[in-house]
Amino acid sequence: MYDLKEKKVLVTGSTSGLGKELAIELSKLGCKIIVHGRNQDRIDGVMKLLDGEGHSFVMCDFNNETDLIKEMGGLGGLDILINNAGMWQEGDTIDILPEDIPTLTNSNLTGAILTTRLLLPSLLKSDFSQILNVSSVAGVEIPSGYYHTVYSALKWGVQAFTEALAKEFDGKNLRVMGFYPGGMETEFFKKVGMDYATHEPWMFDSKESVEAIIFMLTRNPKVSVKRMDLINHLQG
Ligand SMILES: NC(=O)c1ccc[n+]([C@@H]2O[C@H](COP(=O)([O-])OP(=O)(O)OC[C@H]3O[C@@H](n4cnc5c(N)ncnc54)[C@H](OP(=O)(O)O)[C@@H]3O)[C@@H](O)[C@H]2O)c1
Repeated sequence: MYDLKEKKVLVTGSTSGLGKELAIELSKLGCKIIVHGRNQDRIDGVMKLLDGEGHSFVMCDFNNETDLIKEMGGLGGLDILINNAGMWQEGDTIDILPEDIPTLTNSNLTGAILTTRLLLPSLLKSDFSQILNVSSVAGVEIPSGYYHTVYSALKWGVQAFTEALAKEFDGKNLRVMGFYPGGMETEFFKKVGMDYATHEPWMFDSKESVEAIIFMLTRNPKVSVKRMDLINHLQG
């Protein structure tokens, strides 16, 4: 098992939901967390919940490319990058406001690609580094009668980026993995005004995803759980 103690980990989008839970659990394993968010109060709230010392934060909205390049580009000494930030979209394509499409793209795909590109030099200095990208089942299968065209396209893009990056670093000391969860009980839908109860039957607790991601990160460096699809198989 690979020991995560003292590893410096950036979790993008760690001010709520899966990213926040993951940051807290990784801090309990002795990781030095870099919390990422776009709001200082929300960042401060998470910083207080981390176990141990030596944590830090980075603040930038993925919709501000200049800020993203400046802030992410300034980070060093990283061992693990978790590209987790994202936002939901659903509904008929014709109803999506054209001006919302760049925002969705930056939040779900471009932010992760830019962050990865900016942090690769730092990751490659580590003896063994890891990148884990959070996509979605919506970026793997398109369900019938239920539309999220732009979100699916972008999460499919995360899958393509992840798999291409994994090939690029095959045989090197950088392990690249993809995580594809189904619906989780977070604020994800509520934030964009969707009227789902926090506990729809098809959802599961984001702690399940936290455990799965920690399993992936703690495999022996020889082994890669290249992808993991985590779904509520009882509710489709
Ligand atoms: N929940 C689900 O059902 C589900 C299912 C499959 C996959 N996923 C994926 O899982 C990941 C985590 O989602 P979650 O459910 O934990 O959602 P969440 O609670 O809404 O957390 C999303 C995080 O991303 C941040 N973020 C969003 N847009 C950003 C931007 N433009 N710039 C900087 N930060 C941004 C949010 O910041 P704020 O705190 O400021 O909002 C928050 O920290 C996402 O990639 C999502 O697509 C979720």
